Amino acid sequence: MIKTSAPAKIILCGEHAVVYGRPAIALPLSDVRAYAEASPSVPGAGLRFVAPDLGESWAPADSPQHPMSELAAAAMAHLGAPAPNLTIILRSGIPIAGGMGSGAAIGAALVRALAAAAGRELPPAEVSALVYASEARYHGTPSGIDNTVIAYEQAIWFQRQPPGPPLIAPVSIGAPLSLVIGDTGVRSATHMPVGALRTRWQADPAAYEVLFDAVAEQVQRALEALAAGDLAGLGSALDANQSLLERMGVSSPELDRLVGAARAAGALGAKLSGAGWGGVMISLAPAGGQEAIAAALREAGAARVRVAAVAAQAV
Ligand code: MEV
Repeated sequence: MIKTSAPAKIILCGEHAVVYGRPAIALPLSDVRAYAEASPSVPGAGLRFVAPDLGESWAPADSPQHPMSELAAAAMAHLGAPAPNLTIILRSGIPIAGGMGSGAAIGAALVRALAAAAGRELPPAEVSALVYASEARYHGTPSGIDNTVIAYEQAIWFQRQPPGPPLIAPVSIGAPLSLVIGDTGVRSATHMPVGALRTRWQADPAAYEVLFDAVAEQVQRALEALAAGDLAGLGSALDANQSLLERMGVSSPELDRLVGAARAAGALGAKLSGAGWGGVMISLAPAGGQEAIAAALREAGAARVRVAAVAAQAV
């Protein structure tokens, strides 16, 4: 049996503006993962997927337009491998449509399982490119940051540079971080707020370009604060980023309530993370402050609270 996996992700800062060419910083959450378990089946059985969390089971040959069927077909074409006789069980501990990259992580785990079944291990750039093509089909205009941070499983600075490849650089983290993540419990598909923002940008590009530039400044501040281990500076950049996200119209009353509760409980900074309108928010805890923030988030109605320790990283 082959078992592969990929992590959830958190956008630390710069979401949405990253679609418009500004930089963003993202982190993997290595202990929250999606898994693909592949077992050989009888010759001629072909490929079959089982998704127990969704109560679904299907053969890509019968549902070729299912996103995972299309991704599998693209992966097998990339590998130059014939259709395998495999049953692949897809499981995920990452909430669907929750801002943590569940679709990209399941996709990356699936691509790795198909590669392993063909006796190959694909480098992160190839896994990332396959998952990006799949996300582009279903999410319209993804920046590519989700598939990148998930495939590389490293804290990254990411910036689109069309028509060339994006700039992807590991970020230096001078001091460990404790992030408290609150889930609103509201599920929101990425393409909804991304599409709404695009409509508003098309109606008034100048106003939104100013907001995107202001986000880029906060991402630069966050990069420097991260490298210096300056938690207060990082928290202030996250707060400023949240104000800009609110002005872009991608926050929500539930997100605002959790952000406010985290700040009132001592968070150094708090903001939504991912596409918004639901999903998760993140808050930066001062040393020893994570429990008070977690309790405040639960009190404010968070459906789920996680504490993520982010290790220092030298580059
Ligand atoms: C979603 O995790 C991040 C967004 O910036 C969309 C994208 O970058 O494709 C909202």
